[in-house]
Amino acid sequence: MEKPTYILAIESSCDETSAAVVSDGRTVCSNVIYSQIDLHKLYGGVVPEIASRKHIEKINQVITQALKEADRTLQQMDAIAVTYGPGLVGALLVGVAEAKAIAYAAGKPLVGVHHIEGHIAANYIEHEDLEPPFICLVVSGGHTHLVRVEGYDRFEILGRTRDDAAGEAFDKVARAIGLEYPGGPAIDRLAREGNREAIPFPRARVEGNEYDFSFSGLKSAVLNYLNQCEMKKLEVNRADVAASFQYAVTDVLTTHAIHAVKESGLNRFALAGGVASNSALRASIKEACEREGIQFYYPSPVYCTDNAAMIGVAGYYEFIKGVRHGWDLNAVPNLKLGQRI
Ligand code: KG4
Ligand code: ZN
Repeated sequence: MEKPTYILAIESSCDETSAAVVSDGRTVCSNVIYSQIDLHKLYGGVVPEIASRKHIEKINQVITQALKEADRTLQQMDAIAVTYGPGLVGALLVGVAEAKAIAYAAGKPLVGVHHIEGHIAANYIEHEDLEPPFICLVVSGGHTHLVRVEGYDRFEILGRTRDDAAGEAFDKVARAIGLEYPGGPAIDRLAREGNREAIPFPRARVEGNEYDFSFSGLKSAVLNYLNQCEMKKLEVNRADVAASFQYAVTDVLTTHAIHAVKESGLNRFALAGGVASNSALRASIKEACEREGIQFYYPSPVYCTDNAAMIGVAGYYEFIKGVRHGWDLNAVPNLKLGQRI
């Protein structure tokens, strides 16, 4: 049997410092994640300077641990893959500098990876049968993209958010009803006790592109509702607000996603990104996919939020295609999907 291809992957684009070893692009040998969430909770969101400093403190530790848990040495790695965008520039730079140093010292090829392509690739880990083409909805703290995944390295953006990302809307609404950062999981939990039909929040319609999203109007509607309750001295049922807001978001995401799959002529759909672990979103898309005969894929929660395993998977497909980055690889905070630098 041929020797597997091992990728050591590094992810530091936001508030998770993570390293992983992935074999042949589909098997995760280790996936070590140091989450900084508790630090940023104090400020109600990610503080970029604190994130960068913490990445510097933790990065060597997570890499050493990832190799140890995989029972592999650095010399056994075939390449070093690293997220180089999009994300927070200072945070990205820590991972990029570390990956370059390791690759140079060990004489290994360096492969830069797009963070969102990593989120999409997370679906390959647990679904051996999944191969492009398929439609993917990427919903994270910074991105909301409806994508036609044409090949492992070819993407066509069908729709995107015009304003807030889905995760950002969850985080902002959570803060308004007094929940801790990150707001998505907190709303997900609280919404289970609420009535999603209680408050008819608006479903945004966007002119121009039927697949685009907009969440800022919905966020304003929630804030207005809360203000009005305060002015009228009415008690706010936070669980109803959470459930109704979540329903408005998941309803729009589901409708757009299913419409895109039906129009595409494909019958495979995947979810990706932090918000992909939302239980209401999964349930709503699962139901719609069953109704329409569409095969539905989604990653386990650990592969939805930021992690290096997904970067190792995307990095593997770049590596076998021949992508190599030089020692001049830089962090690109606004790197576009499908863009190669
Ligand atoms: O993918 P991710 O870890 O980071 C980015 O690349 O942005 O996504 C983080 C986002 C946060 O906004 C968080 O509130 C949201 O994902 N999130 C959720 C859930 N878990 C995480 N949103 C809704 N429901 C969840 N269960
Ligand atoms: Zn992410």
